[in-house]
Amino acid sequence: MNEKQHIGQLFDRIAGTYDGLNHMLSLNIDRRWRMKTVALMAPAKHVLDVAIGTADLTIEMLRRGKAEQVTGLDLSLHMMEIGEQKCERAGYDVNFVLGNAQQMPFEDNTFDAVTCAYGCRNFADLDAGLKEMYRVLKPGGQIVILEFSYPNNRYIRALYDFYFTHLMPLIGRLVSRDKKAYTYLNRSVKSFCWGEAFVQHLHDIGFVNESFITLTFGITTIYTANK
Ligand SMILES: C[S@@+](CC[C@H](N)C(=O)[O-])C[C@H]1O[C@@H](n2cnc3c(N)ncnc32)[C@H](O)[C@@H]1O
Repeated sequence: MNEKQHIGQLFDRIAGTYDGLNHMLSLNIDRRWRMKTVALMAPAKHVLDVAIGTADLTIEMLRRGKAEQVTGLDLSLHMMEIGEQKCERAGYDVNFVLGNAQQMPFEDNTFDAVTCAYGCRNFADLDAGLKEMYRVLKPGGQIVILEFSYPNNRYIRALYDFYFTHLMPLIGRLVSRDKKAYTYLNRSVKSFCWGEAFVQHLHDIGFVNESFITLTFGITTIYTANK
């Protein structure tokens, strides 16, 4: 998909309004989704937070003592600049690395855990990103992924469709002043795999102990597995 080749530029453009819009569009529930994700993490020494963005997941895992040290990887410099300022304000020393999740600049078996919140569906090649996560994870290490999914209940689906197709692109456009970003978000969520289908990708790559839990009527899902 062509727009995924330019995903770094898209997030660079909306970086300044990203956090505020996230909390507004999710009615602040996104904070709880990240808290739940971190609650499912086993404590780890060195964590790689893939698609770290503005570092909300990283800050939560450091605050909860789930990580001693965090390296964050992202394609968007502006998202990471905001993340870096937030980490500094919170007193956390995080290593931010500019790079592509599908071709990571890290050695094999480097990290004790790998996390990724709302990053995977942006990869041009999902399996390439998951394979890289597997490669850089130490044997036995944990992967924890938070991603949007599609609710099963048809009434919730109808609400979800209306929200993602009409309301969110409109509010996103007005606040971020970017015409494309929030319609991209809608398309990227709808065309992405979730639940068992996502677990199958993890399985095929070689992860074990795969499991997932859905949150808030299934509009978002947390996946965990080990190498
Ligand atoms: C929706 S934001 C999520 C940011 C953060 N993890 C959070 O929970 O708020 C998606 C992030 O993924 C990054 N991203 C997308 N594709 C990427 C790739 N192939 N490699 C590295 N980062 C990527 C974007 O630049 C953006 O910062």
